[in-house]
Amino acid sequence: MKQLQGPQSPTFVQTLQWVFRPMQYMEECAKRYGDIFTMRLGTAFDPLVYVSNPKALQQILSNDTGKQFAAPGETNIIFEAFLGKQSVITLGGAQHQRQRQLMMPPFHGDRMRTYAETIAKVTEEIMSQWQVGKSFSVRTSTQAITLRVIMQAVFGLYDGPRAQQLEKLLSELLDQTSSSFSVTLFYFPFLQKDLGAWSPWGKFLRIREQIDKLIYQEIGERRANFDRSRTDILNLLMAARDEAGEAMTDEELRDELMTLLTAGHETTATALAWAFYWIHKFPEVREKLLAELDTLGENPDCNAILKLPYLNAVYCETMRIYPVGMLTFPRVVKEPVNLVGYDLQPGTILVGSIYLTHRREDLYPEPEKFKPERFLERLFSPYEFLPFGAGARRCIGFAFAQFEMKMVLAKVLSSLDLELADNTEIKPVRRGLVTAQNRSIRLLVKGERTVKSRTLEAVTS
Ligand code: HEM
Repeated sequence: MKQLQGPQSPTFVQTLQWVFRPMQYMEECAKRYGDIFTMRLGTAFDPLVYVSNPKALQQILSNDTGKQFAAPGETNIIFEAFLGKQSVITLGGAQHQRQRQLMMPPFHGDRMRTYAETIAKVTEEIMSQWQVGKSFSVRTSTQAITLRVIMQAVFGLYDGPRAQQLEKLLSELLDQTSSSFSVTLFYFPFLQKDLGAWSPWGKFLRIREQIDKLIYQEIGERRANFDRSRTDILNLLMAARDEAGEAMTDEELRDELMTLLTAGHETTATALAWAFYWIHKFPEVREKLLAELDTLGENPDCNAILKLPYLNAVYCETMRIYPVGMLTFPRVVKEPVNLVGYDLQPGTILVGSIYLTHRREDLYPEPEKFKPERFLERLFSPYEFLPFGAGARRCIGFAFAQFEMKMVLAKVLSSLDLELADNTEIKPVRRGLVTAQNRSIRLLVKGERTVKSRTLEAVTS
């Protein structure tokens, strides 16, 4: 039997390392203690067990509603200040399952494809702001695109004064909580003190209050004039009834809408910005991608774009190399269990380290190199490649994010010739509870591009 090991430094030292240099710290721990180790962060959930062993991840994540493990809501308390107590993220057990079932369908299959038009329209709007000969901030543009797209999916609108105000406030809220200092406030609720409008927590509360007001106004108006023909998520949630025939309360609706608005845009905006970076950092990747896109001719169908193998490989490698979500949400041990040689007791809290799993040499040789070909040469299991987690809490928006990223990339790349405004290397850093680029990526607009007529045979031969 193996003993769980982890750093012995004082808790506050481990916490500082985790807050300020999370990826480096995980790598150092993995080098020293292996692919299952502990960390102590001084929270109620110590010690936290970090797992990046695919066999162990499979055992945990394929059983997280079973006898051995659970995917509780209480361990996501860190999100409560943002999302409230009734969010799919902060709920556990049967309530969690029920909310998931309600919220999944709009993000999958044919329903999702109805957003293709919005994605194209919003991307064109943002592209029209870029000028030939000038550079633009990639992250600002991708964030504007993903925020408007999620607003359309959730409320059925992204225009008009309320939508614009919400867009501005949501961006402010996420900026306000992006620093490592703010993260400490989320980890330690006793630091959450309102010391006035200029204090970090006070500012957070005031922005949140304004957002809530707008969301409640929208809910109120929609309740007053319920329009059955609308297909947005707010309508769907308003029409839903539980086993007792009860509809969701305004507070429940607010928490779910806030969850989708925040989880649904910042992550995708960062991932999309990374994709633009890698594609323009390596001209051969861009050339290959354009050759593949050109085979589809002008105005290609979204299903054809989704199926392009090289575009898919570039997308997967982008999600692998610097995953926006470093960890899965916590899972908890329910009964004594042997996890690949370690005996774990009930109550032990485990997190999947997506970052470390994606950096395993045995799966991804030269893991620090951007090589899309890996995804053409072999298939990875859902426990070897898991940018969206797996199991009972697998990301609700995984298909939506993939769809949106591929559509935006196809549209922008085939319309414009772009290049990196400077070649400085960009690294990932913590941004709030996820990761993002350490500085702004800027792309220079060289000119318009016309689709060259190519056949798939010519590209692959
Ligand atoms: C590139 C974009 C995204 C990334 C990398 C990402 C990543 C993740 C990860 C790692 C998890 C935790 C999974 C687990 O614990 O097993 C998660 C959960 C979640 N994501 Fe995403 N996500 C993205 C986009 C989205 C979008 C577009 C939406 C909504 C439209 C969304 C909504 C959610 C929700 C609601 C959960 C919680 C699910 C639950 O607790 O049952 N995400 N995401």
